[in-house]
Amino acid sequence: MKSAKAWRLSVKDMQILPAPRQRGQLKKSSWIIVLVSLVSLFLVCAYVYPPQSSTACYVFSSHGCKALQNWLPPGPARELTDEEIASRVVIRDILKTPPTISISPKIAFLYLTPGPLPFEKLWDKFFQGHEGRFSVYVHASKDKPVHFSRYFVNREIRSGQVDWGYISMVDVERRLLANALRDPDNQHFVLLSDSCIPLHDFDFVYNYLMYTNVSFVDCFEDPGPHGSGRYIEHMLPEVEKKDFRKGAQWFTMKRQHAIVVMADNLYYSKFRDYCKPAMEGRNCYSDEHYLPTFFYMLDPAGIANWSVTHVDWSEGKWHPKSYGKNDVTIELMKNITSIADSVHVTSDERASIFCAILC
Ligand SMILES: *[C@@H]1O[C@H](CO)[C@@H](O)[C@H](O)[C@H]1NC(C)=O
Ligand SMILES: *[C@@H]1O[C@H](CO)[C@@H](O)[C@H](O)[C@H]1NC(C)=O
Ligand SMILES: *[C@@H]1O[C@H](CO)[C@@H](O)[C@H](O)[C@H]1NC(C)=O
Repeated sequence: MKSAKAWRLSVKDMQILPAPRQRGQLKKSSWIIVLVSLVSLFLVCAYVYPPQSSTACYVFSSHGCKALQNWLPPGPARELTDEEIASRVVIRDILKTPPTISISPKIAFLYLTPGPLPFEKLWDKFFQGHEGRFSVYVHASKDKPVHFSRYFVNREIRSGQVDWGYISMVDVERRLLANALRDPDNQHFVLLSDSCIPLHDFDFVYNYLMYTNVSFVDCFEDPGPHGSGRYIEHMLPEVEKKDFRKGAQWFTMKRQHAIVVMADNLYYSKFRDYCKPAMEGRNCYSDEHYLPTFFYMLDPAGIANWSVTHVDWSEGKWHPKSYGKNDVTIELMKNITSIADSVHVTSDERASIFCAILC
């Protein structure tokens, strides 16, 4: 690389020098030879180092590199490791296998809460009359809640400590999914926080989720410091920076995707080991990056790229608007539902069917 840079410099220097007239035809033709060989070296370099690899981008400016990507044939793809090959065949086969048809398909509602659920009564109303079409799982990480609703009694799973931003948050999501997968009737899985409330009636939510063929996993590329800036190269070769994605943790997932998450150890362990707060001067949060990156890499067409939870960022603060118990009035519910409805009619058919308020 050094030599290439030096050459470029010397070519530039020589161009600046006025060409002495006494140098004849002979000199001119040797210049052409030098130029042609430089151009071929450029091409050979670019081919040997495919544009995905940053090596080529060190040699040439990033603009040159972009241009190069457009007119060079794609370089050879990276050779997958044994673990990647194994992981990908398992995941591909799960995704290709049509889900077993259940006679009484259910939606699993997974509640991730520190303790009691403040909106349990609302959920009780939501579930009433729909027995047999849903199941409830509660992961209470701090205090064992006292339940008011019969739908929640004895629905707690064994819980563990949860630290926001750490892999333990992902572990809890996996634990909830694993417990809910034990019931073969559960076809779609919804992760909810203790501050989520339903914005539509049960039938709407049930039909919306049961008849979709995608999982609602939030997924986008954030090139800034709170997105790609959190990426760390220890994740190579399996997770490349260009695939690093971000998204809110609240998801809904079809059964196949929940199984795929259970089957993954390779990508999970990369995030467990290298995406954590205060890791080499960066704060990486597995719960915001693992699932979006994983699905972006392995089944991009299978996710909606947005989540069905509503979060109010309108106050323009670091945290979204949080609603206290007293703020939740019929009027507020109507307001949020009307947002959901108006969003629903836009061309990309986004809808909020739950409200997630993170405090
Ligand atoms: C989901 O269904 C739509 C239309 O019904 C189709 O275009 C899309 O490819 C399907 N996606 C998957 C992942 O099967
Ligand atoms: C989500 O984004 C991926 C690319 O990142 C795209 O392939 C996929 O079609 C998108 N999903 C939907 C439902 O539009
Ligand atoms: C509901 O929306 C109306 C009109 O935008 C607004 O005036 C009112 O304050 C909202 N109410 C609540 C509780 O957010």
